Amino acid sequence: MQVGMKIWRYNRETGERELREYEIDAPEEATLLDCLDIIKDRIDGTLAYRKSCRMMICGSCGMRMDGAAVLACKMRMYDVVQERRVPVISAMGNLPIVKDLVVDMAPFWEKFRSVNPYLQPGYDEPAGGREHLIRQERMNVVHKEALCINCGCCVSECNSMESDPLFLGPQALAKAFRFVGDPRDGRKVERLEELNGEHGIWDCTRCYMCNERCPKGVDPRDAIAKLGAESMKEGIDRDMGAKHAKWFVTSAKTTGWLRETELVPKTQGIVSAIKQTRFAIGLAVKGKVPPPIPPHVAKDVEEARRLHDLVDEQGVDGYRGIVQGERALARLAHGHGDGRDPYGEGSFARPYLPEDKPSTEPEEIGGSDAGMGSLTQADVTPGAEPTRKPEGGA
Ligand code: SF4
Ligand code: SF4
Ligand code: FES
Repeated sequence: MQVGMKIWRYNRETGERELREYEIDAPEEATLLDCLDIIKDRIDGTLAYRKSCRMMICGSCGMRMDGAAVLACKMRMYDVVQERRVPVISAMGNLPIVKDLVVDMAPFWEKFRSVNPYLQPGYDEPAGGREHLIRQERMNVVHKEALCINCGCCVSECNSMESDPLFLGPQALAKAFRFVGDPRDGRKVERLEELNGEHGIWDCTRCYMCNERCPKGVDPRDAIAKLGAESMKEGIDRDMGAKHAKWFVTSAKTTGWLRETELVPKTQGIVSAIKQTRFAIGLAVKGKVPPPIPPHVAKDVEEARRLHDLVDEQGVDGYRGIVQGERALARLAHGHGDGRDPYGEGSFARPYLPEDKPSTEPEEIGGSDAGMGSLTQADVTPGAEPTRKPEGGA
């Protein structure tokens, strides 16, 4: 097939930047990385990019195609050619460009190292050369985060890092949860304290671009949500972001809505609210805020309250609540089997689902494999027998 592409070339020594167009003959199964190899071998040996494994493992080949971060060795070019597109290839965002498609990863690794990305066990070495055994279910909690290959695609698209380059960022925070959620780690609270500091978890703007661009399904934004939930469970809620989150829970329970008009007085106090009156009036004039009186209560508020009580009764708090939610979302099918549409008029926006088929047999939320009802330190007691044979490496 004939593949056309434009590549942003950059020479740091001269500062020259130029968009060059290439056309090559490539096999139908070619990836973007294969095409770059062909260009480098046959047309222009000066083209610079990183690669190693060519199979989505090493994380070296992150770059942008048409402005969105991709792993070049994962990106098949066949569909692009069929659509008659000539994509623009450029270096990843939020990291300084060294040459062409190669970025300086030093700031990335600095943040990675700052979260102490290694296990700091909270128990003694078992005697007699025995091993610590741990149930597979316990490790499943951090399974997604452990899939990270440090490619930087999430960092490339992070909106918060664009405005605050010191923000720890999605990759470092996903890695941080990898250890906060690991039952063998003994520094959970200390880690959370550090992550709640300046440029930490609450600086995330929840744009979800990191989830969208991660080629390995790590979902870094979800990991950040888990860190936030776990922080609040541990009583680390000094940040305004944590206060807002707590207020939203109260608001959803009492009115069924997220009442943002009450956010400032409830979380920052009356004095701060008065100081921001002019700003609030400006928003009201533009129709951006609903009138505060009478209190607006959602039609289905009872359902919101029952849901709140149910979550309370289950006691699945902290990151375990988010993990349970992930499972529920993964299984969610439209309709609840009783004809009621939970996303109907007056309710929530319909979430994206690949198939829009009503479920005849709704699956149990949390599922039998949730394995989160008995998360105790006993799981990592030296020499303890696992409750069942581990299914894989832990
Ligand atoms: S959700 Fe947060 S961490 Fe992820 S890209 Fe957006 S701002 Fe960055
Ligand atoms: S979280 Fe995903 S996108 Fe980010 S570095 Fe890890 S694998 Fe890459
Ligand atoms: S070359 Fe290793 S992930 Fe692409």
